[in-house]
Amino acid sequence: MLRCLTSRSSAIRRQFHVLTLAESTAADNTLPQFMVGMNNGFLPRQKPLVRLPSAYKELDELLDDMPVIKKNGQSGLLHFGSFGEAVSTRLPLYDTTHVHDQQLLSALFRDYTFACSSYLMEPCDLASRTDKFAKALPLGRDRLPANIAVPLADIAAKLQAKPFMEYALSYALYNFSVKNDALPLQPENIELIRAFHGGQAEFGFIAVHIAMVQHSGRLVRATRDVLDNVEARDRPGTDAAMATLLQVMKTIQDSMETMWRHSDPDKYLQFRSFIMGTKSQPMFPNGVVYEGVADQATFFRGESGANDSMIPTMDNLLQLTSVMPNNPLTDILKDFRSYRPVHHSQWLAHVEDEARRVNVRRFAQAESNSAVLYLALLDQVREFRDRHWKFAKEYIIKHTLHPVGTGGSPIVRWLPNQLQVVLDQMTETSKLINRDELTAANRVMANDLTRRGVVQARILKREVKSLEAKFSTNADHRASNSRLNVGQQTRPLDMPIPGHTTGSHDQREGGIR
Ligand code: HEM
Repeated sequence: MLRCLTSRSSAIRRQFHVLTLAESTAADNTLPQFMVGMNNGFLPRQKPLVRLPSAYKELDELLDDMPVIKKNGQSGLLHFGSFGEAVSTRLPLYDTTHVHDQQLLSALFRDYTFACSSYLMEPCDLASRTDKFAKALPLGRDRLPANIAVPLADIAAKLQAKPFMEYALSYALYNFSVKNDALPLQPENIELIRAFHGGQAEFGFIAVHIAMVQHSGRLVRATRDVLDNVEARDRPGTDAAMATLLQVMKTIQDSMETMWRHSDPDKYLQFRSFIMGTKSQPMFPNGVVYEGVADQATFFRGESGANDSMIPTMDNLLQLTSVMPNNPLTDILKDFRSYRPVHHSQWLAHVEDEARRVNVRRFAQAESNSAVLYLALLDQVREFRDRHWKFAKEYIIKHTLHPVGTGGSPIVRWLPNQLQVVLDQMTETSKLINRDELTAANRVMANDLTRRGVVQARILKREVKSLEAKFSTNADHRASNSRLNVGQQTRPLDMPIPGHTTGSHDQREGGIR
């Protein structure tokens, strides 16, 4: 029988149940949609519902009419900036308290979170369209009306989610249908269910994430194999499992590389405002009040690939998480871990505990040829973070003076924080390898990987220094301009971002969870 684990004690975490290849839950609507599996990996175990039942007709139609570019090619409500008004005139307050079907709850969660983000961010998007280099950011709406807030809070509580748009539960991994089940889940074979902008750039951005995660079932299997073989102190078994994991990671990286052609870096800002959060963002200095739910304002991080579970799985398996520096940037990384389906969080905790218990790193580093494989896996995490750093520069930093990720991280320092840790671990591991004990192929690989790490560390330091200088110069410039009148309420970009320094302003999430 399948069980969701609720206790966080390590004894129970050790029994974490991964859906096996033989297990079929495809017809079961009583279980959560997101359960980590050897087949589905981090994707939902059932297909996401594309249309809501007719009882929710007004919500369904409102969301069809919402995108800047609708599916029929016409301009939608967000194009005209009239979504907010449509919410008050067209959307009833549905009673969702009787809904317990997990597939329907998940589809409703996806759709209400789309409505929520469109409503809150509409003013931000309108302003960013006219001046993407605006020296001040417009405020978002700070009250969510009851006809979105009440059902969203009810559904989120049942899913044990935060009542806000999430990467897995709404924007990316629960937002697709497959054209042909017999073909792989490549962008060409994917259709989106919902969108904010509706153009190719947004489609490609989401579709590439999904295409990458289609390989996560193999990642889960290989992770389990590494843990089992290390526990059994089986050297050939561990090496074989690490080699399989290496292949899986390479496939995922190849898929990630297609982002450049599927989603034009110059068009990321078309949809970026909508996937922002309300936490650590200057557009929501006072958070958002969910009317009819609570009087206190709450703050939530925006949807972000940081909530994907593939790299955190690698971080935990390779025991990178435990060597992250103890600083506010790492606190953000840990905070991101809570923005995902419960079962994904439990899986990550399980892998972290188990890797520490059997000590994957020490076992791998104890034999030089195994250590090269461990080094190669570190290099995969480096490559991912390096490509990702390039994405951040080309899709975001080049186009905006707001260097804060949709999840609310200070991009210029946050992404390098983790990349630097990987580079340091590569150097440490490399030092432990006795070149005389290596096969000829492993000797070449070890030297290559070591060199790559050293070069990257040098470049990264230089880049971060120059970007920090660029953004602090902009901040000085903006400070002298102070508040600019752009025809609406604004907030200076260089305002302190709550939550980015320890002990600052308390940004509550919990009130209505
Ligand atoms: C155009 C492409 C992309 C852009 C512009 C982008 C942007 C960002 C930003 C700004 C962050 C910082 C966290 C935040 O505040 O949101 C982040 C984190 C992250 N993103 Fe992406 N992302 C892109 C594609 C992807 C893809 C395809 C994946 C694959 C799953 C991904 C996975 C991650 C991960 C794992 C993190 C955490 C990084 C870490 O732990 O060091 N991203 N992303």
